[in-house]
Formats: sequence, structure tokens, C-alpha cells
Amino acid sequence: MALRNGPEEFGLVTRLIHWGTMLLVIGMLALGNRIADMQPGLANLWLYGLHKTLGFGVLTLVTLRIVWHVASPPPPPIGPRNAGFWAARVAHWGFYVLLFAIPLTGWAGSSATGIDVMIADRWTVPPLVEASEAAEAFWFGLHGILTKVLFGLIVLHMLAALKREMEGDGTLTRMIRGRV
Ligand code: HEM
Ligand code: HEM
Repeated sequence: MALRNGPEEFGLVTRLIHWGTMLLVIGMLALGNRIADMQPGLANLWLYGLHKTLGFGVLTLVTLRIVWHVASPPPPPIGPRNAGFWAARVAHWGFYVLLFAIPLTGWAGSSATGIDVMIADRWTVPPLVEASEAAEAFWFGLHGILTKVLFGLIVLHMLAALKREMEGDGTLTRMIRGRV
């Protein structure tokens, strides 16, 4: 089983990162919505910590993914260079941008509260912005908007993958077992 990507195939590393990121991100969307509806207190503070820690996990995975894709470029979308091809390209780039922007805006909003931002309750990361209520509202507002854009993009991406698979071009099969 090839670890690296080929000109027409997805290698194991890319597939594991893709599906691992998917699970983590869907869990984070659910957890984020849960904590946004809560009144922070001693009983639920750990959920905030978990959300932040997993958010740094997403940031690490997307960085690894880019490093890996520079070392081992993924194959282009299947089929002719028509509108669908370019739509897939734009969606994939959109994912990369959002998977950086969302954790960074969450980090900025959390810094603006003036409370230390920690990974796994152990390592404190430096604040990205000065503490203020205005900055907190701005960065968390942006964090919330971007997560809704991400959710929309995931739905479109999933529907496009399923549609193409049903049309028989092997797009989904290739992301599951590497080749068509
Ligand atoms: C890909 C990673 C992430 C995803 C998908 C995500 C998702 C979300 C979502 C959906 C919400 C609810 C937004 C709303 O309805 O207003 C939220 C809230 C929140 N996120 Fe994230 N988040 C991520 C990363 C982070 C990171 C890295 C941090 C901090 C270091 C963070 C801190 C927070 C906090 C504190 C809230 C609650 C904000 C409030 O009380 O209004 N998030 N997140
Ligand atoms: C958080 C959720 C998801 C994210 C962030 C995501 C992101 C990406 C990205 C960036 C690519 C381009 C290849 C790469 O750079 O690794 C890709 C490809 C792909 N994704 Fe997703 N994806 C998600 C969920 C899903 C789901 C739910 C499905 C299907 C049920 C899916 C099916 C595919 C397929 C079939 C490809 C290959 C497309 C091609 O061959 O051009 N993805 N995804």
C-alpha cells in the first residue's frame, strides 16, 4: 500500500489525514456550537479546554497536510478541466484557508478574554491580541461566521463527491482506497 501520492492516486498518508481531519472538524463544529450556548462556569470549563486543544490539533494536521503535499503532490480532480474541475480546486483551497483561519480566530478571541490559552491544560500559548471586550466580540464573531461557511462548504463538497461517485467516475472510491 503506497504511502505517497501518485500522479492519479491518493497515498495512505493523504487519505488518513483527509478522513482524520473530517472526523475532528465535524466533532469540533458540534462541540463549538455546544459551548457557544453555555454559560462558562467551573463545571463546563473543561469543554472549552477540550475545544481549544482539539482546535490546535486541527491547526497541526492542516500544517502537516500542506508540508506533506509539497513533498508528495496529490493528484488533480478526475476528469476534464471543466467548471466542475475548477469548482473542486476552489473548494479544496477554501478548506485550507478556513482550516487555518478558524483556529487562528478562535485563538485570537480566546486571547482577547485575557485568560491564558492552553493546550491540554499544560502548555500556555502566547496571546495573539491584547485583551479587550471589543476584540473578543470581533474575533469570536468572525470565528462563528467562518465556521458556518466551513459547514456549507463541507455539505457542498460531500454532495459533489457523492454525485460524482454515483455518476461512476470513481472520485469517492479514490479517496477511500487510493485508486479508482
Ligand atoms: C477547526 C477548528 C475549530 C472549529 C471547527 C471551531 C468551531 C467552533 C464553533 C462552530 C463555535 C460556535 C460559534 C458560534 O456559534 O458562535 C466555536 C466557538 C468557540 N471556539 Fe472554536 N473552533 C475551532 C477552533 C478553535 C480554537 C483553536 C479555539 C481557541 C484556542 C477556539 C475557541 C472557541 C471558543 C472559546 C468558542 C466559544 C465562543 C463563545 O463563547 O462565543 N476554537 N468554535
Ligand atoms: C471536514 C470535512 C472535510 C474536509 C475539510 C475535506 C477536505 C478535502 C480536501 C482539502 C480535499 C483535496 C485533497 C487534499 O488536499 O487532501 C478533499 C478531497 C476529497 N474529499 Fe474531502 N473533506 C471533508 C469531508 C469530506 C466528506 C464528508 C467526503 C465524502 C463523503 C469527502 C470526499 C472527498 C473526496 C472524494 C475527495 C477527492 C476529490 C478529488 O479526487 O478531486 N470529503 N477533501
